[in-house]
Amino acid sequence: MYYESNTEKNSMATSNLTSRRDFLKAGALAGIGASVLPSAKALGEIYPPAKNRVAGPVAISSANGRRTVLKAMEVIQSGADAIDAVVAGVNLVEEDPNDSSVGYGGLPNEEGVVQLDSCIMHGPTSRAGGVGAIEGIMYPSKVARLVLQRSDHVLLVGKGAQKFATMHGFEVEDLLTDHARERWVKWKENLSDRDDYLPPHDPSDKNVGQNFSPEERHMGTIHCSAIDLSGNISGVTTTSGLSYKIPGRVGDSPIIGAGCYVDNEIGAAGSTGRGEANLENLCSFLIVERMRMGDSPQDACLFACQRIADHTKLARLQDDQGRPNFNVKFYSLNADGVVGGAEIWGGEGTFSVADADGGRLEPLAYLYKRA
Ligand code: GLY
Repeated sequence: MYYESNTEKNSMATSNLTSRRDFLKAGALAGIGASVLPSAKALGEIYPPAKNRVAGPVAISSANGRRTVLKAMEVIQSGADAIDAVVAGVNLVEEDPNDSSVGYGGLPNEEGVVQLDSCIMHGPTSRAGGVGAIEGIMYPSKVARLVLQRSDHVLLVGKGAQKFATMHGFEVEDLLTDHARERWVKWKENLSDRDDYLPPHDPSDKNVGQNFSPEERHMGTIHCSAIDLSGNISGVTTTSGLSYKIPGRVGDSPIIGAGCYVDNEIGAAGSTGRGEANLENLCSFLIVERMRMGDSPQDACLFACQRIADHTKLARLQDDQGRPNFNVKFYSLNADGVVGGAEIWGGEGTFSVADADGGRLEPLAYLYKRA
């Protein structure tokens, strides 16, 4: 079942959350704790309950997903599968023109074209779907889900992904808002040496290539994972990717194992931040495998941060102490409903959580403290 998020958005009492207190209050106002459990039989007819456990329901997301987790919980409480919940949750951000890192309003590539990435994974079936560099479709997460449900493939890219979407009734729309266009023009006008093309260079050369300062290049994204009333798990990640990227650049978000991974018996993980570093380490898969070995979600996320730090060997990607000069964040939950997250550079970072008691922000653990 698809939830039409425009309608949902209008009915959300939680659209302008600004503080942790508002967030908690909104969870209560939205009746997140209210019990609207469908019968076990009805759920079992969709997907059998996860084996040997009763955990959740719970939803987690990046810090920009405060409304997302509340929406995901609302959908879960109506008896839906977690895959419906996570898609409905991130749709709110995909259609939000004020989030410049996801969907409509996302910052474009270097040619001024918005190209979106998303992937999704469904725990009960272990099926996955993704779209890379798709243009003109506001809800790449829905298309990723269609790839999972209505094709025998896992990943569609570019024109093929767009054709697949229009075949299923999606409209092609202009996703470049005036605000995003103006920021892109400003970037073009100040390019100097800060695009993504690299000249031949020595790996020890610090003075070459990209400027990954988060103030100048945007790597925002949204991830959402959830456990539904049957104890089944799904996860989704969706993004407009690195701002002003080389056209056709695909980040970690549409790649299963990098941007998102789910094992129904173990847990789920997802990421935001510099996709290239995550692509080279497949951290969502790594986090789930660390949890399989007994790590808590937070420890598994920290392990992934350390793995990236250990593998960041080029001088242009290091600070003067050899540490990564960029950030990546991970979000995770295990099959028992325990949640956790970590980032490479932090101190004040948070992630969004909602459960039967409402919504809250939890601190992200970190490898290095920001100055
Ligand atoms: N993590 C989002 C991206 O790098 O595209």
